[in-house]
Amino acid sequence: MSVAPDLAALGQRLLDPAAPALEHVPELDRAGIRVFAAARHEVVSAVLCEETLFSLRHYDELLEQVLPGTRYLVGENDANRRLRLRQLHAAQNWLDARRVAESSDLPPNLAPGFRNWVAGIAREEAASLIDRLAARSGAGESVNFVREYAFLLSYRVARRIIGVAAPAAMPLPARIMLLARNLMRPRPWIRPRDELGASLRTLLAQQPLFGHVFGTVTVSTGILPWLSRTCARPALDAIDEAWELPGTAPEDSLLRALVAVRKDFDEPDDLYREQARNVLFELTGALVLIVGKALSEIAGFASSNDGRNAGIDWSSLVERLAGHEADPATRDATINEMLRLVDTSRLVRTVRQDTTWRGISLAAGDRLLLLVGAASHDPAAFAEPMRFAPDPLRPYLTSGALQGPHACYGRGIAWTVLAEAIAATAGRMAPAAGAKPASFAGLPDDLAFTITRRQP
Ligand code: HEM
Repeated sequence: MSVAPDLAALGQRLLDPAAPALEHVPELDRAGIRVFAAARHEVVSAVLCEETLFSLRHYDELLEQVLPGTRYLVGENDANRRLRLRQLHAAQNWLDARRVAESSDLPPNLAPGFRNWVAGIAREEAASLIDRLAARSGAGESVNFVREYAFLLSYRVARRIIGVAAPAAMPLPARIMLLARNLMRPRPWIRPRDELGASLRTLLAQQPLFGHVFGTVTVSTGILPWLSRTCARPALDAIDEAWELPGTAPEDSLLRALVAVRKDFDEPDDLYREQARNVLFELTGALVLIVGKALSEIAGFASSNDGRNAGIDWSSLVERLAGHEADPATRDATINEMLRLVDTSRLVRTVRQDTTWRGISLAAGDRLLLLVGAASHDPAAFAEPMRFAPDPLRPYLTSGALQGPHACYGRGIAWTVLAEAIAATAGRMAPAAGAKPASFAGLPDDLAFTITRRQP
């Protein structure tokens, strides 16, 4: 049996300018598929931009394995993806037309008018969550920042922006995951009730599937495909129900927009609906899971010695984001710099055909494992890579390539929500003394914060 390599050590080794651009990692080969790793920022960026050589078809195949017909925009650029993109752009235009337009040269998903709208939602939800936590907490009592703030806030924002309610039921495997979490982590237990229950149902519907799709380098076997399918089904059912009753979604939501622009498309109903469901599913997952996770990890880092050693602690981070003097580019750079510092992510690409790239022979079907976390700490791209030094000109790649066909559609949404979520804690909530981030099943699970009582 092969032993899993230490990817952090591999990443460090490959950052050496003298190391090869790509290195075969035989321990990761499976089912006749070879795996090559890359870590240097310049190499990872080049691979992400080379879509003619390196494809995203493994994402399609992994989704097809568990949920036939389901696709993400991160996938091959086939006719259905192009339809999904048209749907998303038409829906975004519909949403923008409902607001007072602010002229901008930026694409609609990054334009100030859109981001201000997202900021308003995030600010409102963050303030109301903190009020609720404050009303509930006794003196000296701590709250779980991860579950009761980060994931709950990202769920609330997704509910309003995307417009789909939480799945009605929590399938058995998700219940077992929650029970396991409660038995293995110190009290208090997380109880799947009320709104916390709704946020857990939404998160647990996505969590195994994200592991299956984005955590797989070659093939996904064992229990994960079954778990992904069983947990995700209720989330797809919730989208189907919402599609039948769009009036239950907020007026300014992606769901309402996709229903409203249907008349502008010639595609048959079934196709339009299937692809719109895919868009809603992918965006809900990204907002609920990735934003909640990123917010928790940023808070964990800024509350720790690592954060202090990097030159950023929670209070100075809050001050930077809550201060009105920060212009939007500087605020984005602050968020990007925090995402960079906490980054341990990786991406995968599939070699389209036999080729030689940077002097290395690759065969069709080989996988490239891009160690984005290592690339985000590459001294060749980021001087003093462990130091907090935000700068709009830094070559961030934590949301994938910032240009090109697969640039993250939701990065403006994510950066805005993260900035507002952090700023909203100013004077109200801060890391508890000695707070240590804890995780469970690959996601942040707990970080103790205390509420500062408002002076009467
Ligand atoms: C901090 C939060 C986020 C991070 C770190 C992040 C990261 C990424 C990365 C790395 C990719 C490229 C994947 C690849 O090339 O294989 C991507 C693509 C994408 N992201 Fe995000 N994302 C975030 C938030 C969001 C949000 C909030 C949304 C939507 C509401 C979103 C929607 C998308 C979409 C639709 C794509 C696919 C773009 C395409 O291929 O056309 N992301 N994201």
